[in-house]
Amino acid sequence: TGVGLGLEVVSIVNKLQDVFAAVGANSSVIDLPQICVLGSQSSGKSSVLENIVGRDFLPRGTGIVTRRPLILQLVNRPATAKAPQQNGDAKPDGVVPSSKDPHQNEDEWGEFLHVPGTKFYDFTKIRDEIVRDTEAKTGRNAGISPLPINLRIYSPNVLTLTLVDLPGLTKVPVGDQPKDIERQIRDMLVKYISKPNALILAVTAANTDLANSDGLKLAREVDPEGTRTIGVLTKVDLMDQGTDVIDILAGRVIPLRLGYVPVVNRGQRDIDQFKPISAALEFERRFFENHPAYSSKASFCGTPFLARRLNTILMHHIRSALPDMKLRIQQQLQKYNAELIQLGGAQGQESSGNIVLSVITEFCTGFRTVLDGNTNDLSVNE
Ligand code: GDP
Ligand code: NA
Ligand code: MG
Repeated sequence: TGVGLGLEVVSIVNKLQDVFAAVGANSSVIDLPQICVLGSQSSGKSSVLENIVGRDFLPRGTGIVTRRPLILQLVNRPATAKAPQQNGDAKPDGVVPSSKDPHQNEDEWGEFLHVPGTKFYDFTKIRDEIVRDTEAKTGRNAGISPLPINLRIYSPNVLTLTLVDLPGLTKVPVGDQPKDIERQIRDMLVKYISKPNALILAVTAANTDLANSDGLKLAREVDPEGTRTIGVLTKVDLMDQGTDVIDILAGRVIPLRLGYVPVVNRGQRDIDQFKPISAALEFERRFFENHPAYSSKASFCGTPFLARRLNTILMHHIRSALPDMKLRIQQQLQKYNAELIQLGGAQGQESSGNIVLSVITEFCTGFRTVLDGNTNDLSVNE
């Protein structure tokens, strides 16, 4: 399937990044697509990301909870044979119900760049560490910082993707926030979302007016053609009775080339009562299937569809980025070789750079072959 294919090739791309890091190449040589959330404070950005990952680990809640960028790299890693899946219904779309005892699964863990060598198997401890390090760098009183937290999650149940959770757009300073908080957050977000290969999840709460969506406005500034902006409508469950998002989905309000996906995340009471993700996804599924406005299009609603959509878009994105990626690696290697020769290295000798270059060339060719042979799979959700 298209989803399985994505899993395979995107995971290769992430491995390549590791290879280049290991040989000391500048990590910006491969500027991989990253999925960034963008939207107003408390529109549900962290909730959306958490549902895509399928595990509880992000601080969420009312007010400014996300106060530093969190760069989250999901790495698919097959389960070791002896550990059976606790929950047999893992879906191939990146959304997995949490297992009965999430603390017991040895195949899933997190690692922080700032805590080297420590594997976090307990996902509540991952959340604690995000909160702890956020407070260590920004204080406790609503301060913000552009200094990112880098977290990797290894799991057999995720698509290999890089996601970035970001603070929300806000206007009025609270607590220790500077007077120009609006501009500071905006600048921080622009740094991430203006990268040409950033995919923007423009999150807007469905119970607010789309025309006032600061996220959509900012997304349009950095991506005027709308080639890398996906609209996500949260809190569809909180809309007034008799209202729905059908006009938005149909592109009759603010059209987006890549369209909108409506979702239902856990509400504050669900968070307070520790409602598991599996129950939340089940509630979301039933919500769309039973709602008179959405039942006929339920397969295009909800988190599983969003995950598939992201995967497809990501694949296309990587394909179009490949030639440029290769060119930049070539230039970098030429520079290295020139430096090697200057240092007295014999010309024509097989340098590690040449080996890397032949690997990347082979990879690019293989990648294109795989993609071109699966055009139908890839266009399924387009
Ligand atoms: P962020 O500030 O944009 O990252 O938003 P959060 O994910 O922290 O969520 C903010 C608040 O909105 C929390 O209390 C969530 O429980 C609530 N929330 C988010 N999405 C939904 C949704 O789809 N439905 C409901 N009922 N509440 C939501
Ligand atoms: Na919030
Ligand atoms: Mg947040």
